[in-house]
Amino acid sequence: MLVPRFWTIVAVGAALSLPEPAAAADLGSAIVDQGNGKGAMPCKACHGPAGGGNPAAGFPRLAGLSRDYVVRQLDAYADGSRTQPTMTAIAKALSLEERMAVATYFEAARAPAAVDAKPGDEAAIARGADLARDGDWSEGLPACGQCHGPDGRGVAPDFPPLAGQSEKYLKGQLDAWRQGKRSSDPLHLMTAIASKLDDADVAAAAAYYASLPPSAEGDQR
Ligand code: HEC
Ligand code: HEC
Repeated sequence: MLVPRFWTIVAVGAALSLPEPAAAADLGSAIVDQGNGKGAMPCKACHGPAGGGNPAAGFPRLAGLSRDYVVRQLDAYADGSRTQPTMTAIAKALSLEERMAVATYFEAARAPAAVDAKPGDEAAIARGADLARDGDWSEGLPACGQCHGPDGRGVAPDFPPLAGQSEKYLKGQLDAWRQGKRSSDPLHLMTAIASKLDDADVAAAAAYYASLPPSAEGDQR
């Protein structure tokens, strides 16, 4: 992987405290594989080695997410504007350089679609497709696709892909906004949108986007 020289030097430093010599590996992949030795667990334990995610557990797919988006999420967990106990602890244990390094790693990572054992309900998927394409003007709700792109592929760097995330994770995020546990969204765009969704809308949007595969390239560019 092509990495700026600075990261290589930092990786060499980090490798000294790691069990095996990782001098050649960059800092990002070292942390994904082994953690940082200071409280951040190996990312691959939950997100998979290439960031493919774990749908049943609700661990999101990170492969192909834009670097800026990932850094912003880690900063948000660390500063408390996005709260979830596991990720709050991990993000706080990462230095700014380490956050940048893992984000660089995941932006370039490619992983096949993880299989969600529990396919969504068909009626919910159809309702979700309507919301994605048209929104619901009776509720003042814009179409999700206006920002998240056609087929939920995302528009880097600000609008993350929704296709390829699991129903459990997507639903959890929409509920997090509705409950005030995620308030780091730019201009509070998602806070406003989620507040207009009822339980059935949340279930429908999550079922629809979870039914779409991540784009072939696994990314949004
Ligand atoms: C013990 C399991 C676990 C480990 C280890 C873990 N994560 Fe997570 N991660 C989660 C869970 C659960 C979520 C969803 C949290 C939420 O609901 O906000 C998450 C969410 C994220 C997100 C938000 C994704 C998005 O689409 O907004 C990022 C970024 C992330 N993790 C990065 C990392 C990095 C980097 C590491 C390694 C340093 C890591 N995680 C290690 C469980 C884990
Ligand atoms: C006006 C633009 C806009 C529209 C319309 C929009 N979103 Fe978003 N959405 C965003 C932004 C910006 C983010 C990233 C928030 C952040 O950085 O914290 C986001 C993030 C998300 C996430 C979190 C993804 C992740 O990886 O954690 C979900 C889920 C989501 N949106 C669902 C929806 C759904 C469902 C709709 C339609 C009902 C929708 N969005 C409509 C702007 C929009």
